[in-house]
Amino acid sequence: MRGVVLISGSGSNLQAIIDQADNIDLNISCVISNHANAYGLTRASNAGIPCHVIDHTQFNSREIFDQAVSETIDQYNPGIVILAGFMRIFTEAFAQQYCGKMLNIHPSLLPKFQGLNTHQRVIDAGENEHGVSIHFVTTELDGGPTIAQSRIAVLADDDASSLAKRVLIEEHKLYPKVIHWFTQGRLKLKNGKAVLDGKAL
Ligand code: GRF
Repeated sequence: MRGVVLISGSGSNLQAIIDQADNIDLNISCVISNHANAYGLTRASNAGIPCHVIDHTQFNSREIFDQAVSETIDQYNPGIVILAGFMRIFTEAFAQQYCGKMLNIHPSLLPKFQGLNTHQRVIDAGENEHGVSIHFVTTELDGGPTIAQSRIAVLADDDASSLAKRVLIEEHKLYPKVIHWFTQGRLKLKNGKAVLDGKAL
């Protein structure tokens, strides 16, 4: 299945997906970044994947930016759109356009800790567990139906950076696995629910 990956930064999840692409029936058609200096672009180039920079600061509105992104995505006619650390909020129209085929990874156990700075907020809240969620993207920010989560324990001496490192290890294992469910046709969004092998998750 052809896929387009959207990034904003380091692209370590992108790297995990590139490394597994052959095993998960994914052909990464292109990588789109809203930052020209995102290290993920180097990772994509190293893997021979076409890259596009669409700098959101060059657009007067979210609508026009989203339109430019969707025009680029649609050139590749992908079966899946993968948000991998893409740090822009989409318009409802964009979310609707790719509804059912756009996935996002979020570094918290959703519905807890939507939004930014999740690792520090987990520590501040005194949580004893943390993790990562992968969900279908709907019009609700970080709120679409959850597909899968991995959990880690929060240790007494953890800080935001140690938590981020351990959560990322889980992210890199979980995202390729979930993408594979999708490329195999096992994972769908049906009536607002994530469904795997015909069973609601
Ligand atoms: C990850 O923690 C991801 O969950 C979040 O942004 C971070 C991206 O990291 N959405 P990377 O660019 O994949 O290294």
